[in-house]
Amino acid sequence: MSDGQSILLTGGSGYVGSHTYVALVQAGFKPYILDNFSNSKKNVVERLERITGLPVPWHEGDTRDVSLLQEIIVKNDIAAVMHFAGFKSVSESVANPLKYFDNNLAGMIGLFKAMENSACRTLVFSSSATVYGDPIEIPITEKSPKNFLNPYGYTKIVCEEMLASLSVSNTQWRNGVLRYFNPVGAHPSGLIGEDPSGPPNNLMPYLAQVAVGKLPILNIYGNDYPTPDGTGVRDYIHVQDLAEAHVAALKTLFKTGSGFTVNIGTGRGYSVMDVVYEFEIACGKSIPYQFVERRSGDIAVCYADATLAKNLLNWNAKLSLTDMCIDSWRWQSNDFS
Ligand code: WQD
Repeated sequence: MSDGQSILLTGGSGYVGSHTYVALVQAGFKPYILDNFSNSKKNVVERLERITGLPVPWHEGDTRDVSLLQEIIVKNDIAAVMHFAGFKSVSESVANPLKYFDNNLAGMIGLFKAMENSACRTLVFSSSATVYGDPIEIPITEKSPKNFLNPYGYTKIVCEEMLASLSVSNTQWRNGVLRYFNPVGAHPSGLIGEDPSGPPNNLMPYLAQVAVGKLPILNIYGNDYPTPDGTGVRDYIHVQDLAEAHVAALKTLFKTGSGFTVNIGTGRGYSVMDVVYEFEIACGKSIPYQFVERRSGDIAVCYADATLAKNLLNWNAKLSLTDMCIDSWRWQSNDFS
């Protein structure tokens, strides 16, 4: 259990933030949500209250508003921050890089200033396997070289480098960097899940919307990759496991006072077809799909070596692809959007 510390979740009403909010409450922490709702809906707050049975402390605001952040940190005696507030669409970042530099980089710098000014220097940061670019080794370890293929990946690398520089400048900074692989799934209550604004970019939400009839057909981007069935292979991780990884990361930072950078994946890769077939079983329907051209920027295979997270955080993923599909289908069938 925790000592009931107050934890600020920037972007806390988003997909990963909202699931982590629930996990933190269940672990005895007191999470507080800051969100500008640019990529999430306010009705998530009410559903978090239904899941936790407790009022949800939250404030509408942006991490570029340094004085607001400072006020929240001091007034609520925030012991640590989890930074989820960031845009994460690869294709959008290519089309509109400035939006990503402003939100992901200026937003992070605003948070750093507020934390430094309030002497709150414990941070868990949402990074991404995107920092590895097109990996030269599979499975990917934390020592694999970083390389960006798009502005989104660039912002994640820059944020990691800024965190490293802060820790060098002041050893009181304790930063846990979590490199997410492919988060999918939803809370088993079906009350929260992935709710992208506009047509989904990612496989699982797109597949779920085809299954429920919101979209006509799944386009599979390429079946000529050097993989068992020719389709892309990824390390899909249940968002519930990802949320637990954040709790484990926070406890480790408080316990050891030392920062870390870890892959948060299952250590296993599944192809697009593996996911489609599993989802058909979960929803009891056949999914219409067609093979189309590869999507630019996509890589063939990406999955984690998850050993370091196990050794450092005493955490590993427990939920299966079946669980991911069943929970995604329940969430999509509820359609709170
Ligand atoms: C998975 C596979 C596609 C959609 C991205 C970001 C990454 C992270 C997760 C934030 C690939 C195929 C997909 C579709 C398809 N985001 N696909 N049809 O590209 O691995 O990772 O999201 O941290 O940073 O890069 O995820 O779900 O888009 O694609 O065939 O309609 O599904 O080609 O093989 P990706 P994805």
